[in-house]
Amino acid sequence: MDNFHLEERIRRRLIFFPLPLQGHITPILHLASILHSKGFSITILHLKLNPPNPAHHPHFTFRLLDDDAFSEEAFNADLVSFLAILNDKCAEPLKQALAELVADAATACLISDAIFHFTTGVCESLRLPRVVLRTGGVCSFLAFAAFPLLLQKGYLPLQDDRLEEAVIELPPLRIKDLPVINTPHQDKLYELVQQMVQQTKASSGLIWNSFQELEETSIEKLHQDFQIPIFPIGPFHKHNVNNINAPPSSSSDHSSISWLDKQTPKSVIYVSFGSIATIDEAEFLEVAWGLANTKHPFLWVVRPGLARGAEWLEILPGGFLDGLNGRGHIVKWAPQVEVLAHPSVGVFWTHCGWNSTLESICEGVPMMCTPCFTDQRVNARYVGHVWKVGEHLEKELSRERIERAVGRLMEGREGEEIRERALFYKEVANVCVRPGGSSYDSLSKLVKYLSFT
Ligand code: UDX
Repeated sequence: MDNFHLEERIRRRLIFFPLPLQGHITPILHLASILHSKGFSITILHLKLNPPNPAHHPHFTFRLLDDDAFSEEAFNADLVSFLAILNDKCAEPLKQALAELVADAATACLISDAIFHFTTGVCESLRLPRVVLRTGGVCSFLAFAAFPLLLQKGYLPLQDDRLEEAVIELPPLRIKDLPVINTPHQDKLYELVQQMVQQTKASSGLIWNSFQELEETSIEKLHQDFQIPIFPIGPFHKHNVNNINAPPSSSSDHSSISWLDKQTPKSVIYVSFGSIATIDEAEFLEVAWGLANTKHPFLWVVRPGLARGAEWLEILPGGFLDGLNGRGHIVKWAPQVEVLAHPSVGVFWTHCGWNSTLESICEGVPMMCTPCFTDQRVNARYVGHVWKVGEHLEKELSRERIERAVGRLMEGREGEEIRERALFYKEVANVCVRPGGSSYDSLSKLVKYLSFT
């Protein structure tokens, strides 16, 4: 890189606007760290809801948008309404904040979460280029992009008696793998998805926390349908950047690591269903007894509110953990990336949020997949049937099925191929971010692109 280009770039400022959900904040901050390491100045615009912690990113500038008028309404809404409210109400405060920043000639573009489709209009009004980060996988995005077709062909809305049918236009998905969510606001969901896809198509470029070797076929299809520059540069957290894995939350419980240190290699089932999904009380108890019955040690993240209607662990039978003699460890939040990299972890029982899926792939940990909603369903199908690095353990959880699934993955012959493939993808994920790797090269192209946008 010659000095002229470097100096040009150093003066360039990138503005990020994360969606205030953990699974979206973490990757956008990772992306900002990667681009900061390439010489860009970074400004993060954010809301009061789930604010990022500036102390973890001393080199970034943070600006709070005025969301007083709608933050409470959004906070109390269901997920689909939450996203719709933010798209409806954030335009004015974002425009005000951006208006000052675009006056500075160094400002290159806004990097927006794909779900914030309204940012197209704001950027157009200010003549500011808009680049999109889609924090999920390409495979699920293509399923979202197919919603009009899926509605037209009658696959959507879901019908209970057709769930096992194949979606012939989107192999290997079955109807039950389509990225929907159980909501009384189906029309709002379709509108959000349609807007996300359309405004992504209209953007100046599209960045992915994914990598070519993992999603080759999907990325090829994306290139056919989206005539914009596309940059698969993931896994973000594997790039060689200082402090990229700064803790997303101060509430991580480091007892997880000291407990893991005492377990034997590859013996532990790590269980986490991410930052949003909930399960009902009966399912929660099946999970607890299923884990207890496996005889394997387990580390279980139980977020307060994970079991609907419960504060935390009060619905577990009295003495449940004591009866396991240290074989079970329950925390409210764990340092997941560190946990997955720990030699004691043998299986990850996950809801298949995209970050969890990628983090598990990066550490070669086989997955037991219980998807709850939206992209998680597609991710789980790809984990089980395309990448073959895990298996589906569908809802209607029972302790017997949990025990059998753990046995297959951790001990059984069937699990052997899965464990080998998991190690294969771990290697590929690590290589792709090194010099000469696909994501490394794609990042170089992105840096060049943003330098002259
Ligand atoms: C949401 C959606 O549910 C998901 O489908 C979408 O792909 C991204 O946005 P979430 O449910 O939180 O995300 O799941 P996921 O994408 O897996 O992100 C969770 C993040 O929180 C991961 O980076 C994980 O490492 C982190 N985490 C989770 C912890 O650090 N500690 C925990 O105890 C649990």
